[in-house]
Amino acid sequence: MAKMEVKTSLLDNMIGVGDMVLLEPLNEDTVIDNLKKRFDHNEIYTYIGSVVISVNPYRSLPIYSPEKVEDYRNRNFYELSPHIFALSDEAYRSLRDQDKDQCILITGESGAGKTEASKLVMSYVAAVCGKGAEVNQVKEQLLQSNPVLEAFGNAKTVRNDNSSRFGKYMDIEFDFKGDPLGGVISNYLLEKSRVVKQPRGERNFHVFYQLLSGASEELLNKLKLERDFSRYNYLSLDSATVNGVDDAANFRTVRNAMQIVGFMDHEAESVLEVVAAVLKLGNIEFKPESRVNGLDESKIKDKNELKEICELTGIDQSVLERAFSFRTVEAKQEKVSTTLNVAQAYYARDALAKNLYSRLFSWLVNRINESIKAQTKVRKKVMGVLDIYGFEIFEDNSFEQFIINYCNEKLQQIFIELTLKEEQEEYIREDIEWTHIEYFNNAIICDLIENNTNGILAMLDEECLRPGTVTDETFLEKLNQVCATHQHFESRMSKCSRFLNDTSLPHSCFRIQHYAGKVLYQVEGFVDKNNDLLYRDLSQAMWKAGHALIKSLFPEGNPAKINLKRPPTAGSQFKASVATLMKNLQTKNPNYIRCIKPNDKKAAHIFNEGLVCHQVRYLGLLENVRVRRAGYAFRQAYEPCLERYKMLCKQTWPHWKGPARAGVEVLFNELEIPVEEYSFGRSKIFIRNPRTLFKLEDLRKQRLEDLATLIQKIYRGWKCRTHFLLMRKSQIVIAAWFRRYAQQKRYQQIKSSALVIQSYIRGWKVRSLLQAYWHQKAPTTIAAYWHGTQARRELSRLKAEARNKHAIAVIWAYWLGSKARRELKRLKEEARRKHAVAVIWAYWLGLKVRREYRKFFRANAGKKIYEFTLQRIVQKYFLEMKNKVPSLSPIDKNWPSRPYLFLDSTHKELKRIFHLWRCKKYRDQFTDQQKLIYEEKLEASELFKDKKALYPSSVGQPFQGPYLEINKNPKYKKLKDAIEEKIIIAEVVNKINRANGKSTSRIFLLTNNNLLLADQKSGQIKSEVPLVDVTKVSMSSQNDGFFAIHLKEGCEAASKGDFLFSSDHLIEMATKLYRTTLSQTKQKLNIEISDEFLVQFRQDKVCVKFIQGNQKNGSVPTCKRKNNRLLEVAVP
Ligand SMILES: Nc1ncnc2c1ncn2[C@@H]1O[C@H](COP(=O)(O)OP(=O)(O)OP(=O)(O)O)[C@@H](O)[C@H]1O
Ligand SMILES: [Mg+2]
Repeated sequence: MAKMEVKTSLLDNMIGVGDMVLLEPLNEDTVIDNLKKRFDHNEIYTYIGSVVISVNPYRSLPIYSPEKVEDYRNRNFYELSPHIFALSDEAYRSLRDQDKDQCILITGESGAGKTEASKLVMSYVAAVCGKGAEVNQVKEQLLQSNPVLEAFGNAKTVRNDNSSRFGKYMDIEFDFKGDPLGGVISNYLLEKSRVVKQPRGERNFHVFYQLLSGASEELLNKLKLERDFSRYNYLSLDSATVNGVDDAANFRTVRNAMQIVGFMDHEAESVLEVVAAVLKLGNIEFKPESRVNGLDESKIKDKNELKEICELTGIDQSVLERAFSFRTVEAKQEKVSTTLNVAQAYYARDALAKNLYSRLFSWLVNRINESIKAQTKVRKKVMGVLDIYGFEIFEDNSFEQFIINYCNEKLQQIFIELTLKEEQEEYIREDIEWTHIEYFNNAIICDLIENNTNGILAMLDEECLRPGTVTDETFLEKLNQVCATHQHFESRMSKCSRFLNDTSLPHSCFRIQHYAGKVLYQVEGFVDKNNDLLYRDLSQAMWKAGHALIKSLFPEGNPAKINLKRPPTAGSQFKASVATLMKNLQTKNPNYIRCIKPNDKKAAHIFNEGLVCHQVRYLGLLENVRVRRAGYAFRQAYEPCLERYKMLCKQTWPHWKGPARAGVEVLFNELEIPVEEYSFGRSKIFIRNPRTLFKLEDLRKQRLEDLATLIQKIYRGWKCRTHFLLMRKSQIVIAAWFRRYAQQKRYQQIKSSALVIQSYIRGWKVRSLLQAYWHQKAPTTIAAYWHGTQARRELSRLKAEARNKHAIAVIWAYWLGSKARRELKRLKEEARRKHAVAVIWAYWLGLKVRREYRKFFRANAGKKIYEFTLQRIVQKYFLEMKNKVPSLSPIDKNWPSRPYLFLDSTHKELKRIFHLWRCKKYRDQFTDQQKLIYEEKLEASELFKDKKALYPSSVGQPFQGPYLEINKNPKYKKLKDAIEEKIIIAEVVNKINRANGKSTSRIFLLTNNNLLLADQKSGQIKSEVPLVDVTKVSMSSQNDGFFAIHLKEGCEAASKGDFLFSSDHLIEMATKLYRTTLSQTKQKLNIEISDEFLVQFRQDKVCVKFIQGNQKNGSVPTCKRKNNRLLEVAVP
């Protein structure tokens, strides 16, 4: 089923207000209250127009599921409750469909959720953009660049366990269809000081801990590392592990991500070698050593670590050792070498570690860019995501904060510019008059910092380049001179200072009034950090490394390219990259995500109003809202507006037929909204005051309730009515049934009462009759009773006597029986004994005789005796058979049983011969006439036996031939005279009419040469057929008397066609016809027995078909002409 599109709005089920433009009244408190209220209800996102404010929930919320992605996909921005996906969708669609490059600016302080937000945006875009193997690989590479950069650029700080210590801007490039092609990442100002020193409670960059916990023993050995964090000076010990973070697992994730992004194995290894080298650098320690000339000199305490570093990096140990002890300054072609004291040696070591690491990081970014860069040269659409540190105000703010805040100041500037521009553009687009908006323009602050001649950064550079002693104090002095009069600059040292007595402003500090509030900067370290010096000896030592990666990181170390010009300062580098960034952003359509951190404890459910208030202030949210609603607070396209409020006016409810704009006009007039409160744009209605919108919303809510009541009312009415109708119908049915039942019961009662009364009356009548009768018959009855009793008594006496007699007889019989059985047993035993004695006696005698006569017998005497005995037996058998021969009747089946098995075949043969002999005897006594009859019968048997069902019934019938005594009947005298030959058959048959199947009686006559048909009544000859013209006789196989006589085609008699008859003596007639034809024509008449045969009726060939069934006419078969092709005979 297609998913049903439900028209919703941001205004539905809103907690607080979803868009702060609608806040009434608008002030800091209401803004914070609204954020809190929404945060408490897990609504972490709130809009200011198209800006998304995100409050870090510090726990995972179920609002980023694939279902949510689907919900927000292709929906209008204000259709659903505020969400980062809505902004991502808007940006992606406007990039894909309107060809507008986008940038998503994510700002907020550390821990506010910028990086998470940037990842959510990327994952949303990845989820909704095109699919396919190639596209998926690009997506995967883009997404997997995050874990790599986070491992090297993020660290645990007191504010955030995964704090990004660099600024990141990523351009994702798409083709014209909106499929990702690749990306470009820019990084800003890695906080490299963290490599050598971390504030309390913070860690170094994640990668160090991940490497030590996650690497295999083998890898650690190769990198000459130990798994123990405490072995390394650069790893602070107080918080080496982070709750809920598994460094070892993360190490595997990072290695895997590197592989996906496209790092070769050897590249990944080189990177880890550099990381190991940095870690080991921290373990190099120095001790002072005095020299003769009194200069301080340092010496490496334990050279073992140095040796291992050199082995790892392929640097000559002496070169590196020298670089840590001397510094060469080149001036005017002259090289001057000075020794380094312990402090300077440590400075050099740390500078090397910081540089090595920060250059490695930049290399990583470039390497990732190389992998993810788009492979085609076609025009690309771009979506930039900027995740950069937010405004920072600490107790001690140094150079880094100054730089960061400068960047934020620039972002604010572009934000205001672009928001106003967008607002103005919309007014022009919609043809609404533009009213001037008062807002604070922070350009003046930007100028204070970046002005090329007297901006703070320019001053700092000037100071750094100036010959002579340069310190942070001299820099501050300079600032005091140049900027003293600037509105936003505050310092105690300036001569005509307004702040001479301001104790909150220490002497070594200056304060800037940023757009987001005042920030006090400590000048200490400004010059140093801006210079970002690495002694040339060190960079040259690095360039000489055998390690290809390290060598490539220090190109300036190449003596051939020696450049005496100072490298650009950190400040100027940053200013340049910020300028490029701003230029880039200005060409794109901006989308803002402003992240807010609800508490300092990284804890869920806590909303620290003070902290939020501070952020709201420096993010300039209030300012933002004011700008956004300076003219009209709310705007909405006409269609959704009309759809939402149409129920408030009779003309627009339920349907408005005309254009939406006219509908809205009618609606607003009807509602009497003051004209100054709204304005009609080209496609949108602009509402000046949120109050008006809320009034509309209230009215809508009220009206919806009314409508709901109305629907409820109608529904309830309908429900009651249907219920009532059902009840009434049921009641009628029940009443009808009940009445019927009551009536039935009453009827039964009346009926049974009538029966009872009837039976009583009848009873009474019978009884009175009986009584009368009784008086008459009483004496006879009594006498009968007396005799009866007497007779019964006698009977029972006789029965008893008979029983006794029977019993005696039975007992007697039992007695006799048992006596007889005993006697029989005795006799049997005696007989057995006698037999045994006889047998033994015979054996004995035989033995004796054999013994006695053996001498008289010859050798073959046994055979002779055998033959003699056999002969005797056979002789006896025949003599016996003579007496046992059965009667001479051929049908007598008796035959005596065979006496000996060996005579079996003889016995059978004898039986056969005897039978044949008596049959012959039997036949011999036949007269010639009888013989003729049997011949005929035999012929009939050969023709019809097992072929026609009628045959068995004909066997017993004598064949009489002339049934009709033509000679004797005077009626047929004429007929008799007409025939001269001998009549073989004279019989009445039914001739079937060829046209309709009805039958008429005919005399059927067969003579030696002809077949004649004559009228039964008159005896007149109707047809005469010579036997030579008869070709065939057909009949069914069934029990009927129908037969057809087929005539030779073309003969005279055949003019009307074949004949169809039915006769009671079919078998006899057919047999006689056959015999006569044979004897006369010497040809066998064809007799066809089939349930379907063809006859020729005049010109037609008609099929005569015999069917079973049709009991209508009893046992008489019926014949019916069905059509001119079929004649049906139904045989019962
Ligand atoms: N939308 C969110 N849902 C759940 N947790 C979040 C969300 N956003 C941020 N967090 C939590 O807050 C922590 C800090 O977020 P994140 O690293 O994005 O801050 P950040 O603004 O980038 O900070 P930094 O400037 O230090 O890099 C995350 O590690 C995560 O635990
Ligand atoms: Mg971050």
